[in-house]
Amino acid sequence: MRILVTGASGLLGLNLALSAAKVLGGGHQIFGTVKDHALLPEAFTAISIDLRIPGAVGRLLEQTQPDWVIHCAAMANVDACEADPGQARQLNSDLPTELAAHVARGGARLVHISTDAVFDGQRGGYTEEDTPNPLGVYARTKLDGERGVAQMDPRAIIARVNLFGWSLSGARSLGEFFFSNLSAGKRVLGFTDVYFCPLLANDIAPILIQMLEKRLSGLYHVVSRECTSKYEFGVHIARRFDLDESLITPASVADASLKAPRSPNLTLRTDKLSAALGASPPDLSTGIEGFYTLYQQGYPQYIKGMEIRD
Ligand SMILES: NC(=O)c1ccc[n+]([C@@H]2O[C@H](COP(=O)([O-])OP(=O)(O)OC[C@H]3O[C@@H](n4cnc5c(N)ncnc54)[C@H](OP(=O)(O)O)[C@@H]3O)[C@@H](O)[C@H]2O)c1
Repeated sequence: MRILVTGASGLLGLNLALSAAKVLGGGHQIFGTVKDHALLPEAFTAISIDLRIPGAVGRLLEQTQPDWVIHCAAMANVDACEADPGQARQLNSDLPTELAAHVARGGARLVHISTDAVFDGQRGGYTEEDTPNPLGVYARTKLDGERGVAQMDPRAIIARVNLFGWSLSGARSLGEFFFSNLSAGKRVLGFTDVYFCPLLANDIAPILIQMLEKRLSGLYHVVSRECTSKYEFGVHIARRFDLDESLITPASVADASLKAPRSPNLTLRTDKLSAALGASPPDLSTGIEGFYTLYQQGYPQYIKGMEIRD
């Protein structure tokens, strides 16, 4: 099996490529694309490419000849998307649409990664049947990406995720935010009125692999079966890492003067996924335990060690 992961220097892509190598074992070849990062991982072959360059997508597929493509590359910083809507559209809408068109012609199976943020978060408990109502540039461009992929490649899986984990920068996920600030004794805000259902990034690969093996297609919510507020999430992290939870001040997102609009209640239902796989995705305690275990095993340093610096 030949597997191509785009965005393999990102929070999701890197953990996914590493976990896929572990889950699948030997005999499989994994390729991971990077753009601004130079990586030398043992578990997969890193390919440096800017996927916005005309012809790059076709050349990448020609070079790697994948059976499965898991598309994680994106402009995933919501404030950066608000500041540069043109680039957000190019990366979050046009690129996945182009990739899906190529993949559909070539016969590989595609998983396109999308987001819970396609909903406005006024209600929560969203299913795949609910109508999205994206609030900002990031969410709008991601929703258009979903639609482009579905149109070009109806066999594709579109996975709406939310996640946390260890990243190359050490600062890409909310888990890392709470861990590093609390470790440094710094006070932080924890939003009591923003809800989400994050999965540990490393737990996403086994789920997507099962979905591919079962030849699923269409839209799925791939998030934790348990949801929480961002404040409670911080408290969970503090307790597991034995850090001072009183440094987290309960606050409203309205107090934080963030640039891009945030949807308050992004709790998603995972019934469709659970029915298709015959098992529910992990709960929050399992994810946080996994995050802690990786820390104890030196995983944050391990991934940083893959980076080639000038
Ligand atoms: N993080 C979250 O909490 C979250 C929540 C919901 C959904 N998602 C979705 O999950 C997916 C992955 O997000 P993430 O947080 O892992 O993102 P990330 O950490 O920001 O990583 C983005 C990846 O895209 C690559 N990339 C950016 N521009 C590129 C280009 N022009 N050509 C090729 N590659 C390019 C980056 O490469 P370089 O870094 O090497 O430049 C990096 O590998 C996205 O689809 C996002 O919408 C994320």
